[in-house]
Amino acid sequence: MNKKTILAILPLAALLAACSMPPSQADVEKATADMMKNSFQAKGIATLDRLEQDQANATCLQADLSGKPLDEKLAKAVEEASMKTIKWPSDGKFLGDWKEGEKIAQSGRGLTWTDDAKQANGGNCYNCHQISKEEISFGTLGPSLYHYGKLRGVSDPNAAGSKAIVEYTWGKLYNARAYNACSQMPRVGHKGILNETQLKHVMALLLDPNSPVNK
Ligand code: HEC
Repeated sequence: MNKKTILAILPLAALLAACSMPPSQADVEKATADMMKNSFQAKGIATLDRLEQDQANATCLQADLSGKPLDEKLAKAVEEASMKTIKWPSDGKFLGDWKEGEKIAQSGRGLTWTDDAKQANGGNCYNCHQISKEEISFGTLGPSLYHYGKLRGVSDPNAAGSKAIVEYTWGKLYNARAYNACSQMPRVGHKGILNETQLKHVMALLLDPNSPVNK
């Protein structure tokens, strides 16, 4: 190759080299973290601690970035740690009032900088789930919860035979990652989105035989 040819292909070689070297994962993560830090500002009740990843989120993000499902052992570890976060109802009663539960499931209010910390949050459940038949506006990221208790044979939520499903439902609402490491469902109890009384109302919406969900 003469000098002229070499000079002519140099820019092309440089371009090819640049193309074949995508930014490393660390570069992408740093750029993302910087972007989040620069664009998200503390305002009202929405403070910067929102940007701190907990262990479960970090583990699931790594799996997402790698494009492979989460390693079984890691998934188990996330689930076990999440299970430990669950606080069971202090008085042993799991169900409240389904009518209140419907209001909570409907409401997407809470946690933004225009919300008041003193006001109770909503559960935003319809955003991802069908729940009662009457509400025709719902998201489909999560499975339909219509007939939730009925389909699982809960005719009396206080009966011994209902215990397993009642407990699972509480746990799932409290911290969905306890049963599915990288669940996309918000950890409604663990993250303090709903309080114990509100959780009981939502439980009743799903499991009370008198709730429209089970009619
Ligand atoms: C951002 C979307 C999202 C929101 C909001 C959400 N969920 Fe979910 N939920 C999911 C997904 C996705 C699943 C299925 C995957 C899983 O089990 O983790 C699920 C699973 C469930 C299950 C388990 C269903 C089963 O058959 O085992 C229950 C119960 C449930 N959600 C109830 C609720 C309630 C009640 C609310 C409101 C307080 C709610 N979800 C809010 C996404 C969501």
